[in-house]
Amino acid sequence: MSKMSGLKFKVQPGGKLQGTIRVPGDKSISHRSIMLGALAEGVTEISGFLQGEDSLATLNAFRQMGVEIEGPTDGGVTIHGVGMDGLTEPDAPLDLGNSGTSMRLLSGLLAGQKFNVTLTGDESLSGRPMGRVTNPLGEMGAEIKSDPDGTSPLRISGGAKLTGIDYEMPMASAQVKSSVLLAGLYANGDTCVTEPAPTRDHTERMLNGFGVEVRRDGSRVCLTGGGSLKATRVDVPADISSAAFFLVGASISEGSDLTLQHVGMNPTRIGIINILREMGADIEVLNERVSGGEPVADLRVKSAPLHGIEIPVDQVPLAIDEFPVLFIAAACADGETTLTGAEELRVKESDRIQVMADGLTTLGVDAKPTPDGIVIQGGVIGGGAVYSHHDHRISMSFAMAGLRATALIEIEGCDNVNTSFPGFASLAARAGLNIGEES
Ligand code: S3P
Repeated sequence: MSKMSGLKFKVQPGGKLQGTIRVPGDKSISHRSIMLGALAEGVTEISGFLQGEDSLATLNAFRQMGVEIEGPTDGGVTIHGVGMDGLTEPDAPLDLGNSGTSMRLLSGLLAGQKFNVTLTGDESLSGRPMGRVTNPLGEMGAEIKSDPDGTSPLRISGGAKLTGIDYEMPMASAQVKSSVLLAGLYANGDTCVTEPAPTRDHTERMLNGFGVEVRRDGSRVCLTGGGSLKATRVDVPADISSAAFFLVGASISEGSDLTLQHVGMNPTRIGIINILREMGADIEVLNERVSGGEPVADLRVKSAPLHGIEIPVDQVPLAIDEFPVLFIAAACADGETTLTGAEELRVKESDRIQVMADGLTTLGVDAKPTPDGIVIQGGVIGGGAVYSHHDHRISMSFAMAGLRATALIEIEGCDNVNTSFPGFASLAARAGLNIGEES
């Protein structure tokens, strides 16, 4: 895709965020609800499903494999589960668009099927590392061919006999953990994954909800293959990763007072709140409750003066998708903010360290990339034209920077905002951001 293609955001400087909003459903939980609902016996009803391109790519993949799925309608989806062995061979490759979660989790889920299947994606996804899943899956007995540099398309051969492994994961990745566990459902014996740091545990929680026992002992999770899943209801909370743009936006714009409803508060996802609070943010957690096996709450955020910090390394996996917008918070904070231990950011939908450093520099902010992080000096955010590299979270992060900018910010390549946050611009405008779209 060329630099100038696609949607552009134009954000006028200033404004504040106010009112009560609910951001769309959690992307990670939405993907998993389709996958487990499809493999279950019986009818699974989902509410709050994210109708974004990424989770729809997963939904369409299962339709292509013969699963009857009704919806989505206003976040409602009904899946007629086909059972562990009920998927059928698709008549074309499964195109997973921009979605790394779809490709990595599906490669595990499909490694033990009887049929051949090919997984493809867009330009960004086709450049992302897949060896991190094909290697452990290969150890289990899967036959998956990638391109020589370890990227997709992934060609999965059917009929492989899988055996459980005890896998020490080299990086903190929920996608890799989930891929191995989903393959483990089809493997002989026990499959275990040990993680170097806690990563999001939605797969484990949801498997338990579908009746598969996942055992955790410290940093090691195990399940036993050969079982079956029982259909259930899944209520998808609002995505804390989407709420994050508003948590930062309201924190940095004077006079803001915004409430975000029904936000997923899984302890493996709340790094954004911990880090922002350490920077001085005023975030209240209200009405804490549990919904469908996941903790949720309403979040009230008011503007507050932020100060720079050294971001604790143990928070990195718990805030892994929120760093682009945290860098905007750092640019508005008093003093220096340093991030280390976040080399994973370089292999997300874009190289999020370099792309954010480039955009911040364009806006006049002192932002120095390092191999595994960044050093940002808080100061004045100017105007200018930044390029998101078609990375949804980069686009939305620079949109929020407009609240504190001194001049117009134009953001190129915002089309992929629809992968995770359909309706972002109109919801942000309703809350008080001066944002316009141009195609
Ligand atoms: C996800 C895990 C994270 C995250 C991604 C969604 C998931 O990736 O960045 O947006 O749903 O499991 P890694 O596990 O590769 O860090």
